[in-house]
Amino acid sequence: MSQSKKWMWVSAVFCTTLAVSLSVPLSALSNNEDAALISKANTLFKPLPVTDALENNEFTPLRVALGKALFYETRVSSDGRLGCATCHNAAYHGADALALSVGIHGKVLPRNAPTVFNTSLLVAQHYGGNRASVEEQAFKSLLSPLAYGNTTNDQVETKLIKLGYTSLFKAAYPSDAKPVSVENWSKAIGAFERTLMTPAPFDRFLKGDANALSKTAKLGLEKFISTGCAGCHNGTVVGGQTYQKFGITQDYWLVTGSTPKDAFKGYDKGRFHDTKNEADAFMFKVPQLRNVAATAPYFHDGSVETLPQAVKVMAQLQLGKQLSDEDVSHIVSFLEALTGDIPSDFAQVPQLPAAPH
Ligand code: HEC
Ligand code: HEC
Repeated sequence: MSQSKKWMWVSAVFCTTLAVSLSVPLSALSNNEDAALISKANTLFKPLPVTDALENNEFTPLRVALGKALFYETRVSSDGRLGCATCHNAAYHGADALALSVGIHGKVLPRNAPTVFNTSLLVAQHYGGNRASVEEQAFKSLLSPLAYGNTTNDQVETKLIKLGYTSLFKAAYPSDAKPVSVENWSKAIGAFERTLMTPAPFDRFLKGDANALSKTAKLGLEKFISTGCAGCHNGTVVGGQTYQKFGITQDYWLVTGSTPKDAFKGYDKGRFHDTKNEADAFMFKVPQLRNVAATAPYFHDGSVETLPQAVKVMAQLQLGKQLSDEDVSHIVSFLEALTGDIPSDFAQVPQLPAAPH
């Protein structure tokens, strides 16, 4: 477009805007600074997909519905009281709001429950990355003494049949010779989890709507990038892609106040406990920061209560920087723009099969 034509176009838009009293979206008039920030942000982050599709696990509505029922089902756990939704709850944005989760028989687990939203997009599951996918995570939780505490897969399958799940499994996996199986249990839960995406104001910003972020959130995004946070927290879920040492400038517990845990025979060394490789000591999966403003307390052991505190801790431990209170509040305001709506299908409690005959 030539300069003069462009000017005519701009003034036409301007006049029309005045004439129709701002009916043109303000975003159409975003200034250069906004455009530059949107384009910089797009080099580091990506909007969420609608669902996280997967080969070999086609998610039909019946499979997703079965997965949702199983996610809420408590009677499969060894004490009959624990379902996924106990610790990944709609009221707390897919987490449980506790520093440390409470498992079967009231046993306190050594780690904080992350949100279950968008989690299939992470490079692996758990802080140490010892579960390759959401399906494997669900599968292994059935026999884990820290989670469902069952002793054999057969025992689980018998429970599911007794509870009245056979017809739901058959409908969801009609061509399987043995529809009620722990494999299908985990595939169905995985399918459900892969639909739990939480698009947020930041996604609209990345797609070009400059007004989706407040002025302070934009300053926070600038600061998040210029301070170096985006070096580790980037991509679609603003983290979740790599393992990094927690406590680069000093031992993390000196700043977080974390305590040693029996399960780890000392301080939690992250990925080391899964690989037994010294090089992995204190390496943790970088958490996603989507919904972080709604999932306090923070870090793998919930040792830090508030988001401003967590941001300060990160700057100090990971980057050796002291942020001013103003910078912290801007960054927090950016992080708040990562809070998405709870998927409507998640919050509505499903009807579960009635107990056995
Ligand atoms: C007793 C509470 C509790 C229950 C019940 C529970 N979880 Fe979790 N969940 C946790 C904790 C704690 C972690 C973190 C474990 C770790 O990183 O070592 C976690 C981690 C996860 C993760 C990995 C998230 C990430 O960011 O890495 C997924 C996915 C998940 N749980 C799904 C489920 C599903 C599906 C179920 C039901 C089959 C379930 N959870 C049952 C507490 C629970
Ligand atoms: C060198 C990599 C790295 C950098 C740089 C980094 N982080 Fe982190 N971040 C991590 C890791 C690893 C964790 C997980 C630590 C843990 O809980 O064990 C984490 C955790 C967090 C958490 C807690 C998330 C939760 O759900 O508990 C927040 C918030 C956070 N980072 C924000 C930031 C901010 C803001 C910056 C910039 C000031 C930043 N991070 C810089 C690697 C990094």
